Amino acid sequence: MPGDPPGRLAAVTEVREWPVHEHPGPDQVRALADGAAALLCVNGDRIDAALLDASPGLRLVALASTGFDSIDVAAADARGVAVSNSRGALHETTADLTFGLIIAARRRMSEAERYLRTGSWVQDDLDLLLGQDVHGATLGILGYGQIGQAVARRAVGFGMTVLHHRRTPGDDAWSRWTELDELLRRSDIVSLHVPSTPATRHLIGERELRLMKPTATLVNAARGAVLDEAALGRALREGWIGSAGLDVQQVEPNPDTEHPLLGLPNCVVLPHIGSATRAAREAMVGMAIENVLAFVGGRPLLTPVGRITTVTA
Ligand code: DGY
Repeated sequence: MPGDPPGRLAAVTEVREWPVHEHPGPDQVRALADGAAALLCVNGDRIDAALLDASPGLRLVALASTGFDSIDVAAADARGVAVSNSRGALHETTADLTFGLIIAARRRMSEAERYLRTGSWVQDDLDLLLGQDVHGATLGILGYGQIGQAVARRAVGFGMTVLHHRRTPGDDAWSRWTELDELLRRSDIVSLHVPSTPATRHLIGERELRLMKPTATLVNAARGAVLDEAALGRALREGWIGSAGLDVQQVEPNPDTEHPLLGLPNCVVLPHIGSATRAAREAMVGMAIENVLAFVGGRPLLTPVGRITTVTA
């Protein structure tokens, strides 16, 4: 992890560190958590009821990520274990990447770079690699938390009409609340920013993709589970929508070069780098460290996720 958690925490508490670059498996997380009062971990480290039961001394799981879908927060609440995340540390950075995906998908940037790199650029034609405009388009944002709002603010600079959908209706200075189906029908670009929960699993599937415009772009910088990848593959192949930009996949990490979406020229796929700048990653880890320090100092957590906002050792 960037930001040196062992160095920053060693002055106040004993620190045990996972020593190698490869991520620990469930048994190794369990061994690391054994006897620990707090666990500082990253997205993908699965903390479930079995691990919590095997670690009765555990009081805090401090995540260096905003998404907490790998943590069973209800099980943690029930056992008096607090959970914190890193919200506030990465939303601007992830919104930047979301815009990168929007532009890359609509302007066919990955496809164009492959064209250039393979020596295909032998003639300039007025119809070479024609895409779709971003400026002036209608952007629909699904999930309107910190990241969704940061995307909306950027869209204003592109002269876009911005719609959003979330559970609680309400407009703001940048965007207008819209029913889900209307948003899907009206948007040129649909960008997903909902958390991954049982309720949002496959929020976008065949029905929703078929409601979108044939020229529309779907962007997912949230979690792979909110999108039905198989339906998206059909939508891109059969022209229900025009293009997609994905920073996340259903299975991560995914070294499968035969993954069906990778063969589609109208799909830009990135390896979950939404928050991958040095500054953001240090801020995410810094937030997790601050939560551990709050716990050690008996203060309220800065960014609690579950019911428990203060825990003591
Ligand atoms: C987050 O913080 O949720 C990012 O997706 C990185 O894990």
